[in-house]
Amino acid sequence: MSQLDKKSEAWSALFSEPMSDLVKRYTASVFFDKRLWRADIRGSLAHAAMLARQGIITDADRDAIHKGLAQVAQEIESGAFDWKLDLEDVHLNIEARLTQLVGDAGKRLHTGRSRNDQVATDIRLWLRDEIDAIAALLLALQKALVDVADKHVDVVLPGFTHLQVAQPVSFGHHMLAYVEMFSRDHERMLEVRARVNRLPLGAAALAGTSYPLDRAFVAKELEMDGVCQNSLDAVSDRDFAIEFTAAASIAMVHVSRLSEELVLWMSQNFGFIRIADRFTTGSSIMPQKKNPDVAELARGKSGRVVGHLMGLLTLMKGQPLAYNKDNQEDKEPLFDTVDTLKDTLRIFAEMVAGITVQPEAMEQAARRGYATATDLADYLVKKGLPFRDAHETVAHAVKAAMSHACDLSELPLEVLQQFNAAIEKDVYDAMSLRGSLEARNTLGGTAPVQVRAQIARHRSRLGS
Ligand code: ARG
Repeated sequence: MSQLDKKSEAWSALFSEPMSDLVKRYTASVFFDKRLWRADIRGSLAHAAMLARQGIITDADRDAIHKGLAQVAQEIESGAFDWKLDLEDVHLNIEARLTQLVGDAGKRLHTGRSRNDQVATDIRLWLRDEIDAIAALLLALQKALVDVADKHVDVVLPGFTHLQVAQPVSFGHHMLAYVEMFSRDHERMLEVRARVNRLPLGAAALAGTSYPLDRAFVAKELEMDGVCQNSLDAVSDRDFAIEFTAAASIAMVHVSRLSEELVLWMSQNFGFIRIADRFTTGSSIMPQKKNPDVAELARGKSGRVVGHLMGLLTLMKGQPLAYNKDNQEDKEPLFDTVDTLKDTLRIFAEMVAGITVQPEAMEQAARRGYATATDLADYLVKKGLPFRDAHETVAHAVKAAMSHACDLSELPLEVLQQFNAAIEKDVYDAMSLRGSLEARNTLGGTAPVQVRAQIARHRSRLGS
């Protein structure tokens, strides 16, 4: 048996009794942290290369380590690797197998490092690559939304405040609101990435190491943007993981708001859109049902990610410097956050691309809700009425329309003129949905020319 076949033997001399199976299971992380194996090997390759460059190990040892780790990687990839609970975590498992393969060179790999700086390095490397994947998915989702917006610039739906019909807006404009949100999420991810991508390795257990390490070399090998400057901080803080999960939570909250709108819009009471069948499910009892399960699940999963953020914050709170085993609990929430966010973004890009818009239902809803009442008020202001008076006048007109069960634009001119004599025939243009839309021609407004300008800006930004 080689020295590292059992974890207890890695620091054995001091220990007089074995761990119970329950304690072993309780303290082990290998069954989830084995997911970090690529990052672990990558970090070890860079560390060994640096040790040899600095004359701390021989070139022959470095070569043996590199060769051995290549085989370990191949065994893990093929599924042949025998993960051992006894060896607690991904780090000890890989090191033990390396030592089995290459002997003493394997035992020299841990010179000048600790699992404390090793694990912090592994998570950062792993997370950095996941952030890149998430950033790409956020771009893809934005492109899908811009395409939908482009097709529906001239489709009018009622914009809501308090979920009460407010003013007409372009459906394209509405979609672009989400593009703005997801573009900020993308920005946030890249900002977080810059702080994730710093090297803890070289901090060793907590105080640094007596070997003449070249940390900058390792950072460069690992394509990291810098080196953590305080050894205690390097091994102990997980703020980068918290910050990532916060950014992920915000993105999921954006998804959740979009989900809520899709659910409302596809309900019979709205009937604004149809979602492609492949994203809906039926009911086992009610044959007429088509349920927006994917959107609802995404709304639910946002709660799960926000929960992970709370979990990580609470995990960190109250930990004294430096490393504590509490930090082993950072992985599962982080892994689940990444998995949930990636799946959700991917599925949403597809689902959004497949929605069918029902313009008549949207227009009808806008009319039913007197969405152009503000336009009538603005019309009167242009005729010289103070806005407050115009507001009051229109309230009376809406009341009259309600009692006739019709839209403002369906009231005859004589009736409208009873409210204000200055009203002329052109009022009907102002009160049309199209007229209302076109009037909102300020930067960021819903006028189709503005929406088209925004689409062009997004397309050039996204290269789509
Ligand atoms: N599995 C541990 C973790 O995830 C690795 C670091 C363990 N270090 C220690 N001194 N116990 O945090």
